[in-house]
Amino acid sequence: MGTIIEPFRIKMTEPLAITTREQREKWLREAHFNIFLLSSDQITIDLLTDSGTGAMSTNQWASMMMGDETYAGSRSWYRFRDTVEKITGFKHIFPIHQGRAGERILSQIRLKPGDVVPNNGHFDTTRANIEWMGAQAVNLVIEEGKNLFLDHPFKGNMDIPKLKRLIEKTGPEKIPFAMITVTNNSYGGQPVSLENIRETKALLASYNIPLIIDSARFAENAFFIHKRERGREKRSLLNLAQEIFSYGDGTIMSAKKDGLANIGGFFACNDDQLAEDFKNLLILTEGFPTYGGLAGRDLEAIAVGLLEALEMEYQIYRHATIEYMEKKFREMKYPLVLPVGGHAIYLDAQQLLPHIQPLHFPGIALVNEMYLQGGVRAVEMGSVMFGKIDSNAQKDSPAPFELVRLTFPRRVYTQSHFDYIVDIMKNIWERRASIRGYRIVKQPPFLRHFSAHFEEIR
Ligand SMILES: Cc1ncc(COP(=O)(O)O)c(C=O)c1O
Repeated sequence: MGTIIEPFRIKMTEPLAITTREQREKWLREAHFNIFLLSSDQITIDLLTDSGTGAMSTNQWASMMMGDETYAGSRSWYRFRDTVEKITGFKHIFPIHQGRAGERILSQIRLKPGDVVPNNGHFDTTRANIEWMGAQAVNLVIEEGKNLFLDHPFKGNMDIPKLKRLIEKTGPEKIPFAMITVTNNSYGGQPVSLENIRETKALLASYNIPLIIDSARFAENAFFIHKRERGREKRSLLNLAQEIFSYGDGTIMSAKKDGLANIGGFFACNDDQLAEDFKNLLILTEGFPTYGGLAGRDLEAIAVGLLEALEMEYQIYRHATIEYMEKKFREMKYPLVLPVGGHAIYLDAQQLLPHIQPLHFPGIALVNEMYLQGGVRAVEMGSVMFGKIDSNAQKDSPAPFELVRLTFPRRVYTQSHFDYIVDIMKNIWERRASIRGYRIVKQPPFLRHFSAHFEEIR
């Protein structure tokens, strides 16, 4: 079959803003040239994030109507628990309002200053919660994963010899748990092979260190395993997901990604004491363990969404969309991070705009140009987000890369929306030499990308 179609049709529409160039210029100026400060009705296509931005199915909406809002022991809870158990096989299951709630509770009950938590790539809230407890978050992705342009089927893999060296150097008693993130978001949504997860678990088990799987994109990772790992092509995504989870001692899941829900998540584990400690802090800070800060209808939506994310037709369509955009960007000769991951395309703004030096933020220049040209919102991942602010010398140091991420919400945009983005990118390619850099005129002491004010360098 030549054309892979969206495996759904549209039953309900949501208008998106069709705007003029004059309006966009005014709004961007009013937002101080920071796309985080725009409102949704000023944006035509929003590629800021894939988290919580997906569209739900008729089955999810129907199940939400069946949501049981009983405080303790609701029907929705049992349905949620049974689905999570079927996929993960874990004994203890707790709903949480989103991924970082699980990260916070796990960090608070298990970490103390001086501890170390290895991961193939910590997501930024995971890192922040670990560091908040005075522990150290260490990234141990394989060397290939650090090379943005190197082709490798599983660039998200854990570097096992490095993990072994870290354990030997630190001492296993200082590593209360290790993590593995599937797919590896911080390194471009790159997948982790089943073999690598198994080997990671085997090594950790020999030191008695529990493995916690950050499973935000477990279904996308299962699809990559099905496509790329030899001998796995005949297995269902559910079966592959079950094997992924079988190597974990626990998992934290943000259901805002592969739960196909707009909010929610869960923590699950096998160890009775860990579950008991988690439950006690959950009750104190999130809610009773059968709802964990979520409404019954949210539990229903997640229960349905988790299984829909494992449908082969859905994953084939999702990956086909990303590959379609990869092909278009390659045809236009855009420099991009390769191979493309599971939820986003990353453009190299520095290669595209070599006349803009890193501290004039080529990523911001490209993001703003995409907005001005067609109301498309992408996000800078370069010196604004990751550069260092030197308050003494009043001198910033740049990040190693100047990337722009185009993130794909799940089941939201159709092929014509993507063709529209391609048209915009063609225009930008033609006039790239005239695009100008930016300087920061106001910034907070941390996480400046969310609220900094910029001005164009003329
Ligand atoms: C890999 C990964 N882990 C954890 C999180 C945190 O989840 P949440 O945003 O639901 O708190 C995210 C969110 O993007 C993520 O991508």
